[in-house]
Amino acid sequence: MKFSENDLHRETERLFKELKKVKWSKLDCALIAPITLEINRLKKEKNAIILAHSYLTPDIMYGVADFIGDSYGLSRQAQKTKAKIILFCSVHFMAETAKILNPKKTVLVPVIAGCSLAESITPKDVRNIKKKYPEAAVVCYVNTTAAVKAECNACCTSSNALRIIEGLPQKKVIFLPDELMAKNLQPLTRKTLINWDGRCIVHEKFSPKTIDAVRKNYPGVKILAHLECAPEVIQKVDMSGGTEGMIQYVKNHKAKSFMLVTECGLTDRMKVEMPNKKMVGVCALCPYMKQITLRDILLALKSPSKDQIIELPESILRKAKRALDRMIRITEDKKFK
Ligand code: 13P
Ligand code: SF4
Repeated sequence: MKFSENDLHRETERLFKELKKVKWSKLDCALIAPITLEINRLKKEKNAIILAHSYLTPDIMYGVADFIGDSYGLSRQAQKTKAKIILFCSVHFMAETAKILNPKKTVLVPVIAGCSLAESITPKDVRNIKKKYPEAAVVCYVNTTAAVKAECNACCTSSNALRIIEGLPQKKVIFLPDELMAKNLQPLTRKTLINWDGRCIVHEKFSPKTIDAVRKNYPGVKILAHLECAPEVIQKVDMSGGTEGMIQYVKNHKAKSFMLVTECGLTDRMKVEMPNKKMVGVCALCPYMKQITLRDILLALKSPSKDQIIELPESILRKAKRALDRMIRITEDKKFK
């Protein structure tokens, strides 16, 4: 579709208002304006919404997304929406989660983006570990495939992992697949956690030395880390949790500077949404999340290929939904808050 000079000018200004906070120039914004206009037009025409994880690039988050959030918040948005099509801009397992919660809707992905955690375990691995510990409950982190979720008693995200572990009756819990997250959670519960050896290739790279250096250079800095980091890192920070918890912490804290030990997209979000808070130190890029571009989004909305449409076998949908429903029940039950 061809847009008028006026429309393109207005779109460039709209984008620049937000993206200049992450150092985008007006020319950069003008270059993407025809694509964001076309995506936003197609969304209306097709009755679609775009959900974007906070690790995406700012042109996607502020150019075309209807909701930006963490894995839990986005799955709740997917459940609430009245739109016919959900275009899920994130890694594949999150889009699968939206499909499980909304089997009748069309769920699309711009690219098939993996995740080192989701790729670390298969349904057969879960069945084998269950045989070894028949008395234990199985909790899978949301960063797993739908087929793995189908083998578990409950799912969890970084925002509710401890609550889910505590909310199940069993005293032993097989916590899959994130080894580091299980190690970070173990001191917080009296239950025994049995872990797997999956790792997030982005968060495992942060080292305690970086934390020490940032503290030395920025007195008074508050440091926040994702629970997927190593315990030696978590022990040194002021707050640990999921991405949404980090946003709330920064929003409500009076400190002047913050370091986010996580993916750079979240730091970009803070810079755009809380420009009066100073972000310092380093962040890391997730090669899976950062595969997604505006162009892929446009192509998926225009005419999705077979690979861009999430389809799951009926039996997987049904069983994986049980694990997700249990997570939502425990998370939203006031008794566990
Ligand atoms: P959140 O649910 O905290 O956003 O985490 C998702 C993720 O993939 C972190 O690496
Ligand atoms: Fe997976 Fe880590 Fe990327 Fe999150 S940051 S999607 S856990 S690889």
